[in-house]
Amino acid sequence: MVVYLVGAGPGDPELITLKAIRVLKRADVVVYDRLAGEEILGYAPEDAKLIYVGKKAGEHHKTQDEINRILVEEGKKHETVVRLKGGDPFVFGRGGEELLALREAGVEARVIPGVTSAVGVPTSAGLPVTHRGVATSFTVVTGHEDPTKPEKQVHWDYRADTLIILMGVGNVRENMQEIMKHRPPETPVCVIERGTTEDERVILGTLEDIAEKDLRPPGIIVVGEVVNVYREIRGSQG
Ligand SMILES: C[S@@+](CC[C@H](N)C(=O)[O-])C[C@H]1O[C@@H](n2cnc3c(N)ncnc32)[C@H](O)[C@@H]1O
Repeated sequence: MVVYLVGAGPGDPELITLKAIRVLKRADVVVYDRLAGEEILGYAPEDAKLIYVGKKAGEHHKTQDEINRILVEEGKKHETVVRLKGGDPFVFGRGGEELLALREAGVEARVIPGVTSAVGVPTSAGLPVTHRGVATSFTVVTGHEDPTKPEKQVHWDYRADTLIILMGVGNVRENMQEIMKHRPPETPVCVIERGTTEDERVILGTLEDIAEKDLRPPGIIVVGEVVNVYREIRGSQG
């Protein structure tokens, strides 16, 4: 009886690991939320129980406590339960909370990493997040901090050369303004929407003007000189 917290990768169903496919193929239960590529569910046996716990318009969506409870209950009843998550389960995926809840309930749990969108999406688009002579470091940060937190943890004064912002499209204007307190307004910015899927869109701009563009979530926002390297790579593709 094991619950596997499994990273499904950023969207392209081929960007899942062999290990993840191996456990999905013998899953009795798959607990999943919105995935960029639902074809991945096709790796599970036909008679596997599929439990959707993501948000759906007009429907009550499950709280994290409810999801934890489902995982514990299913984990006690079945041989193999797969908790499938987009990207990597521990990068803004609340996988740590689920692992703690399972461990506290005495249910065996293992984690299978996934290709996180934070790096996989820029890489797949041809945008290197580090580049010799241009960027030696990157920071991955949320663009949507839980407003109920007693104290803000995101202050936008990061020293890394490249900033990679997840969940940031909705707050792009406010966030770019905050970043401009620490970086010049002409700093290049790239937004990659629905990366690694057929609907991928790439939008280029600067800290000053990116919020004026037509942006649609979900997307990754990359801030820094590496965006110019991406332009060069793209330009050289002809
Ligand atoms: C709740 S976080 C989950 C991140 C996930 N655990 C990971 O490692 O990629 C969701 C955010 O990831 C980013 N994201 C996930 N998949 C994406 C994709 N295919 N293209 C662009 N952004 C993506 C978006 O910023 C989205 O708002």
